Amino acid sequence: MNIQEEVSKRKTFAIISHPDAGKTTLTEKLLLYGNLIRSAGTVKGKKSGKFATSDWMEIEKQRGISVTSSVMNFPYRGYQINILDTPGHEDFSEDTYRTLTAVDSVVMIIDSTKGIEAQTIKLFKVCRMRGIPIFTFINKLDREGKETLALLEEIEEVLDIETCPLNWPIGMGKRFLGVYDRNNEQLVKFNGNEEETYIPKDELSEEIANNPTYIEAMDEFALVEEAGAQFSLEDVLSGKQTPVFFGSALAPFGVQTFFDHFIDMAPAPGGRKTTEGVVSPDAPDFSGFIFKIQANMNPAHRDRVAFLRVCSGKFERGMDVRLARTNKHMKLAQTQQFVASSRDTVEEAYAGDIIGIYDPNVYRIGDTLLTGKDKFEYDELPQFPPELFKKVMAKNAMKSKQFKKGIEQLVQEGAIQLFKQYRTESYILGAVGELQYEVFQYRMKNEYHVDVLFETIGERIPRWLNPDEKVDASLYDERNMLVTDREEQPLVLFKNDFSLNWFKDKHPDIELIDLFEVN
Ligand code: G4P
Repeated sequence: MNIQEEVSKRKTFAIISHPDAGKTTLTEKLLLYGNLIRSAGTVKGKKSGKFATSDWMEIEKQRGISVTSSVMNFPYRGYQINILDTPGHEDFSEDTYRTLTAVDSVVMIIDSTKGIEAQTIKLFKVCRMRGIPIFTFINKLDREGKETLALLEEIEEVLDIETCPLNWPIGMGKRFLGVYDRNNEQLVKFNGNEEETYIPKDELSEEIANNPTYIEAMDEFALVEEAGAQFSLEDVLSGKQTPVFFGSALAPFGVQTFFDHFIDMAPAPGGRKTTEGVVSPDAPDFSGFIFKIQANMNPAHRDRVAFLRVCSGKFERGMDVRLARTNKHMKLAQTQQFVASSRDTVEEAYAGDIIGIYDPNVYRIGDTLLTGKDKFEYDELPQFPPELFKKVMAKNAMKSKQFKKGIEQLVQEGAIQLFKQYRTESYILGAVGELQYEVFQYRMKNEYHVDVLFETIGERIPRWLNPDEKVDASLYDERNMLVTDREEQPLVLFKNDFSLNWFKDKHPDIELIDLFEVN
């Protein structure tokens, strides 16, 4: 098979949601369809204590959750499916955001009883920034939830994206009859624990056709068909429209139909921007970029693994590649592909595939690896605004040399972000989630033999100042703390929305830059 054919079979995506919306349950069903697991309940054993995706780090074992994004891959209907996990719960971190730079599309799960929740908004913004196509699955229809139209309106308003329902729920909770499948003009009937059945619209029994729940839902749907947006694959692929499906991941109901539609519509890997223009996925030379580095995955071996997304050409185990940043050659002999329960050796890979490569402490997040004569680097990974801040210091002042070295390396690696308080120069760490602090503390102790102390600053809203304008330090205090980032750029950490708005009102002439702002 040639490279082009291999690439066209790849579907690489992530599932985003707020904790408890049903990501694990849905993922599990997809793995069942892919024959990757034989029974549900094996992916995350919150209660059973089983681990499948990863049980590498000590912290993971203590917490009973997987720390870092892992990758699951399996063949399905002739496609090669790569699902990248985006950790939520307490293990939400910058890695969760960075994972989204390595996918070609995203499935967004929304809990029908809750609507859009905080973490969904954050992850959605990253997808929006990068123009990633988003497919929506509204979950838990077997429960009493929000009204269908209200849910769609909420998505459109809060996320500012056009919705196009491809199926329509008939009732919910106890009255849940199933969904009307718009494309095939049929009712997909919900049968509780039994398998769903398919009834063409004109073959419905009188009982169903006259059921008030059915009539009401279909009346509503008629309105949507008439006044709502028409489905446009072009708009979906450019991130302007999201196709919406309803179902229940737990039942499961509507999951396989959703997956089949999704696979048909989701894009295969495309060209990616580099410093020398766009590189096509079927270009003959191998290239890819590192989006995540995981240290100490196996405490017994103390190894580090860099996660690389293949972007072009064919990867073969043992091949000689060049690290674009340093122009050094290296042999990729120890490579792994990640499957739910094990780390298999990967022999070859194509654009869209994720491979784990042994990292002898030379790689950085965002690094490009390549073969061939061309010289280029993939676009730098964006910096994501941290939200949680803490002052950090060494417990033992005698260890300040190791402390500085450790911080420098972990920051450079992308484990956490470093800021300095204006004037006092105290070290302030910024993270997206609490877990990053735990990992930082753990690694400082285990790799640099330094015990660190934190002093909590708390949740803050960071806004960068215009670097070309002069900073008047007297305007800032504890509530709007002035700090500098690693590039010495000034930014303000606002205590809350109130202090941010107050400052804006008082100083309308000071430009405040939000890294998450999408134009
Ligand atoms: P997450 O990975 O997004 O955090 O969510 P997860 O799949 O763990 O699901 C969160 C809870 O919601 C679980 O219940 C799960 O069984 C339930 N759930 C998921 N999909 C559906 C659905 O379609 N309908 C209903 N009614 N519930 C659903 P739990 O009690 O917290 O955990 P567990 O004991 O079931 O594991």
